[in-house]
Amino acid sequence: MTTLEWADGRLRFIDQTRLPAEEVTVETTDHLVVCEAIRSLRIRGAPAIGVAAAFAVLLAVRKSRPSTPLELQAVLESAVRDLSATRPTAVNLFAAMRRMEEVAREAGGKNVAAILDSLSAEALAIQRDDIESCRSIGELGAGLIAPGSSLLTHCNAGALATAGEGTAIAVIAEAARRGNVLRVFVDETRPLFQGARLTAWELVRLGIETILITDSTAASVLRRGDVQAVIVGADRIAANGDTANKVGTYPLAVLAMRHGVPFYVAAPTSTIDAAIPDGEHIPIEERDETEVTHFGGRRIAARGVKVYAPAFDVTPAPLVSAIVTERGILRPPFHDSLAAVLRRGGAGGETP
Ligand code: MRU
Repeated sequence: MTTLEWADGRLRFIDQTRLPAEEVTVETTDHLVVCEAIRSLRIRGAPAIGVAAAFAVLLAVRKSRPSTPLELQAVLESAVRDLSATRPTAVNLFAAMRRMEEVAREAGGKNVAAILDSLSAEALAIQRDDIESCRSIGELGAGLIAPGSSLLTHCNAGALATAGEGTAIAVIAEAARRGNVLRVFVDETRPLFQGARLTAWELVRLGIETILITDSTAASVLRRGDVQAVIVGADRIAANGDTANKVGTYPLAVLAMRHGVPFYVAAPTSTIDAAIPDGEHIPIEERDETEVTHFGGRRIAARGVKVYAPAFDVTPAPLVSAIVTERGILRPPFHDSLAAVLRRGGAGGETP
């Protein structure tokens, strides 16, 4: 399954809003189609958003056929603005935009064709880096999963959310290949059901025993001692380790601590935002109220009710047992381990 694919100057992607009922692939040369797809969660998941946005910048520049480097630069900046306005929380989007802008700046003295080549190479590199990060996160994180473990995850941090095998799901998949996973409990993940629609779909395809639970069932499953580790992805990790992920992640972390179960976050270093000191500074997207008041296109909530619909919540760092990155497994104090992993490039082992 390829979530995102660049071929012949086109971006192809799976429309995730149609899963699991239909596997529909969209093909486009228009960066505004990608903007809409990100906003409406046809393309979703922090790393996948970053990769798609990088290709979307390339689409915009190619389509405009600029005749001068200055013209190219203007189109690029305008596309970056469009894409940056789609979703505010996942920092991978902004990291990818920075990489594309930097490449254009560095190639500034070259002709238009050469700048286009550099941009194309960079978008492919962003995709390749993410594939490689997923592989490495899977390898390193699987070492945390003891034989015979039942796991619990929330939302979707799998192949659909990345360019590779996923983050949390890469860990689960690799641990399963090593024969260490008994089963995985999947939160349905209200209100858009990324767990029920996407994670359950991926895990069943991987041949892993998957038990779907409503979000509010997690507490009793943990209390019964049926889960040996909780593992989730992330949309943005602040310098102190506070972690934004799909709303409903924070209560899981509280429950995990209450029941003495490790709570792991799996994310590439592109999800770390060293520029913000803590979770208070993470912008939390609020979604349209109809995502809560309606189900399957039909209103389920009383008319006149007010709605609060944040897409993400922030898990305070003290509730996180470890952060699995492609460069190593980070342990508290995260302020130090995160700073160290960013200083050091390349892949690594346990705590850097
Ligand atoms: O609103 P979504 O579906 O984009 O939210 C996605 C998540 O919260 C994921 O857990 C996160 O992006 C990590 S994906 C590897």
